[in-house]
Amino acid sequence: MSHLVHALGHIKINTSDIDGVVHDATEILGLHVTHSEAGQVWLSSNGRAAELVLIKSPENATHTIGLEALTVEAVREAESRVEAAGCRVLSSEPSMECIKAGVTFATPEGLRFEIHTPIRDGIYDRRHPTRGVGAGRLDHANLITPDPDATRRQLTAIGGLKLSERMVNDSLSWMYGGNRQHHILGIVKGVVGLHHYSFEFREFNDYLKLGDLLDRFDKQMLWGPGRHRPGDNTYAYYTDACGAMVECAGQMALVADDNDFEPNVITNLARPGNVRTMNVWGTPAPQEWREFHFPFAKIA
Ligand SMILES: [Fe+2]
Repeated sequence: MSHLVHALGHIKINTSDIDGVVHDATEILGLHVTHSEAGQVWLSSNGRAAELVLIKSPENATHTIGLEALTVEAVREAESRVEAAGCRVLSSEPSMECIKAGVTFATPEGLRFEIHTPIRDGIYDRRHPTRGVGAGRLDHANLITPDPDATRRQLTAIGGLKLSERMVNDSLSWMYGGNRQHHILGIVKGVVGLHHYSFEFREFNDYLKLGDLLDRFDKQMLWGPGRHRPGDNTYAYYTDACGAMVECAGQMALVADDNDFEPNVITNLARPGNVRTMNVWGTPAPQEWREFHFPFAKIA
């Protein structure tokens, strides 16, 4: 069992504007609220009990990146590796009642992860009435770390994540888990934070709905639609009410032959000449996207 972590499990965000983020998540992405209590709202795009978790807070910042392992044993195995990887266990209890087991840990770079068992799911509860686009599932997240090499080593040592691709200067790299999609985590080099979280769209027409819905709410796409080279997924980005960047992604390429897979190293870094190395249709990333930063909450 080399991959302990299978997929991105959930994203927890501290926000001073829960109502605003719920509005954007329901009316634009098409998520639905599954649970609401004092100071906390869970949202999901399908039958899972939670994918996006909002925590009422004076700040807008990423609280935790949830990574899903398949069994309680896998979670406990990951927990047993945390200290040796130079990280610190913050809790050995699951953070929500919709998961059986979890371990939350902090990295020296200031990231907080919870490796947890699968979130409770209703398999035939995938679609819900919505005026939003109707994303299908939480897909991946790109975190920002000052030390990508350290973060990757920790994620490999603790969760068995593997490198799928990297830029030779480590400004961006990508890691895959047990579900084999090209990345469940992207690693961006910079001040600790979250670059974006991503939900999967079902079809390309969804980008038309997205653009028109954003316009109706006097918002706009930050970049896209286009197709990334790393991952081969289509994309469009916008920012939500708390200032986090949301990606709407098409289905990603899979690492189908794990044993013979060699992570690609992108050596052509010179813009704009490398545009098709990075983006299949030749649409370059705007500076706003390249320099985007949403903070990570300070860890006590
Ligand atoms: Fe992405």
